[in-house]
Amino acid sequence: MQKLEIQGGIAVDGDVLISGAKNAVLPILAATILAETPMTVRNVPRLKDVRTLAQVLEGMGITVETDAENNISTDTSTLNSCRAPYDLVRTMRASILVLGPLVARYGEAEVSLPGGCAIGSRPVNLHIAGLEAMGAEVTVQEGYIRAKASRLKGATITMDLVSVTGTENLLMAAVLAEGTTCIENAAREPEVTDLANCLIKMGAKIKGVGTDTLIIEGVEKLQGCDYSVLPDRIETGTYLAAAAITGGRVRTLNVDVNSLDAVLNKFTEAGALIKKGDDWIELDMRGRMLKAVDIRTDPYPAFPTDMQAQFMAMNTVSQGIGVVVETIFENRMMHVPELARMGANIRLEGNTAIVAGMPEIYGAQVMATDLRASACLVLAGLAAKGKTTVDRIYHTDRGYEKIEEKLSAIGANVVRVS
Ligand code: UD1
Repeated sequence: MQKLEIQGGIAVDGDVLISGAKNAVLPILAATILAETPMTVRNVPRLKDVRTLAQVLEGMGITVETDAENNISTDTSTLNSCRAPYDLVRTMRASILVLGPLVARYGEAEVSLPGGCAIGSRPVNLHIAGLEAMGAEVTVQEGYIRAKASRLKGATITMDLVSVTGTENLLMAAVLAEGTTCIENAAREPEVTDLANCLIKMGAKIKGVGTDTLIIEGVEKLQGCDYSVLPDRIETGTYLAAAAITGGRVRTLNVDVNSLDAVLNKFTEAGALIKKGDDWIELDMRGRMLKAVDIRTDPYPAFPTDMQAQFMAMNTVSQGIGVVVETIFENRMMHVPELARMGANIRLEGNTAIVAGMPEIYGAQVMATDLRASACLVLAGLAAKGKTTVDRIYHTDRGYEKIEEKLSAIGANVVRVS
């Protein structure tokens, strides 16, 4: 199993080119199922999760080609199955995103029910209820969701709670449904907006993009298009956090400057100097004191759960006490005991972590338990005295393209070992 070895204590300094957003490219690749003609997706990050979704599409017979720049072209004319098997879905829950497009275009889908995962039980009841509201017949048997519909019908769907992939699945179902669908309490994450913009380019009729009410007028057919995925706001935030935690400076390039307001406000509150251009954000922590900040995760535009662990790492070496409250997932604090192994002072009460900043934390052998927890441990390793070894970095590779190369380029001492 591969690990990252980090010699901590170096202030990072330099530019980092940000990749396309993992959470946007996955639904957009699923949306290619809806296209009658070939489609090309650009600015695709080189990530394990992207390869997994490509395998799910290939397993259905869809032709998937990746060029030297990692642009992915798909052609659905070769599709011969509407099934996403357990072996792939269990490695990536986001495979559930093929459910909506398959029923919408082919009238049937058989998708393995994702199991629980490290950060929580993560049910998909809202995805299923929404499809049923659109007239699909859905059963769950032998671990598979089986959905059928001759043609989905428009409906008004009020989501019980804000679900990102739930909204995306129902949006992709509604674009080919007969009549008008209204999704209320829809997720407003920028990745949902990126998917909606891609669907519009394919010929879909969607109003309310970027708001919590999406109104979709179904069309008969969608065509393939050429679409470039938006930059990854969580990768952006993670590299800015690397500058904050090491007292350095990082300029992230090719970023979406408007999708990170809640995170940038917290960096400023933590004492960082933030500068922005058209497509770059810089964080300068040189000569400044890192202060602990309180964090409460909530759906966009509030502070994202996918940045919670990184700010927890920052709080461990800050001045003062920061209270971190996780409201989205019930078990997303697994980095806390690992940080404690590095000398962090954290008291955990349910989904609230009270972090007392320490003058120093120390390198240790630690284990990544999920994607963002792995980013948290890498950040802690950058700030710690001595050597940190982060094990199980297959979690990191699911969401961070070439993390050791990008960190080395800004001066960090990080190597990948087997
Ligand atoms: C997506 C993101 C993930 C991010 C999360 C929250 C992708 C591929 N992943 O995950 O990185 O951390 O949003 O911003 O985009 N829920 C239900 N029933 C459902 C669906 C969700 O109870 O049918 C619950 C979940 O258990 C969770 C909450 O709703 O407690 C939000 O989850 P959701 O937004 O659906 O997360 P994902 O879309 O899986």
